[in-house]
Amino acid sequence: MVKSRGLREAKRKIGDLEKIIFQMLRRKKKVRVFESGCGYWRVMVELKKRFGDRIDIVGMNLKPSHGDKKKMISFALKEGIINKNEVKDIKSIKIVFGDAGNRLPFKTGSIDLVYSQVSSYLYKDKMHFLEEVARVLSKEGIARITPFTYARGLPKELLPLLKIYDNGKCMSFERFIKKFKNIKIKKIPSKNEVIEVKKGKLNFGLRLESSINVNNLNKEWFGIQSIYSVKK
Ligand SMILES: C[S@@+](CC[C@H](N)C(=O)[O-])C[C@H]1O[C@@H](n2cnc3c(N)ncnc32)[C@H](O)[C@@H]1O
Repeated sequence: MVKSRGLREAKRKIGDLEKIIFQMLRRKKKVRVFESGCGYWRVMVELKKRFGDRIDIVGMNLKPSHGDKKKMISFALKEGIINKNEVKDIKSIKIVFGDAGNRLPFKTGSIDLVYSQVSSYLYKDKMHFLEEVARVLSKEGIARITPFTYARGLPKELLPLLKIYDNGKCMSFERFIKKFKNIKIKKIPSKNEVIEVKKGKLNFGLRLESSINVNNLNKEWFGIQSIYSVKK
C-alpha cells in the first residue's frame, strides 16, 4: 500500500492545499491543519517546510507501524525532502494514532483545514468520520477528502464501499448527501472529484449495520465496505 504521496499528488486528488492555506493566512496568523491517514507524512512535511510556524499541523494514522515520527524523519531524509539541518523544523509536527471513524481527538471548531488522501476508504465508519470532520472544523474551515470510491481491483459485488439503505432501497452516497448543506462532491481543476465539508452540524441519522474488511477476503484487496441504514 502506498504511504508516501506528496503535495503534487494531493493537488491532483484533493486540490491545491497551499492555495487554501495562503487564503486562510490572509485572515488569520496561524492555520491549524489536520491530515487523516498521513502515511509517511510526506504532505505534512512539505507543508511545514513551506509555511513553517504559520501552520500547526497534526496527522493521524491507524497505528505507529503505518508511520510514526521516527519513520517519517528517516523517510524524509532518505527521499531528500529535508536535509539534516531541517529535522528540528519538522519535529513540531504532531501525530495521533487511532481510528478516524471514532471521535476525533480535537476540540469542536479547532481545525481550519482537514485533508485526507487515499485513506478514508479504509475506515469502518466513514459517515461518522465526516460528521466528526464537520464538528472539528473552525468557522471558515474547510475539508477535502478523496471519495470512498477509491478501491482498485475490487470485484463488482463489493462495490461501492459505502452503501446506504433506506427502507430496503440502496441509495448512493452522492444522492444521500444532497440534503445536507455543508457537504458536497466538488470537481477540482484536475477534474477529479473530492468530498468537501464545511463547518456546520452534520448528523446523517444513519446506523452502521455492518462492515467488511475486503483485505480478509483477498490479501491483494484493500478497503472496508460499510453498510448503513437510515434510522427511523
Ligand atoms: C494507503 S495509506 C495512504 C497514506 C497517505 N495519505 C498517502 O496518500 O500516501 C492509508 C493511511 O490511512 C491510515 N488509516 C487506515 N485506516 C485508518 C483509520 N481507521 N483511521 C485513521 N487512519 C487510518 C493508515 O494508517 C495509512 O497511513
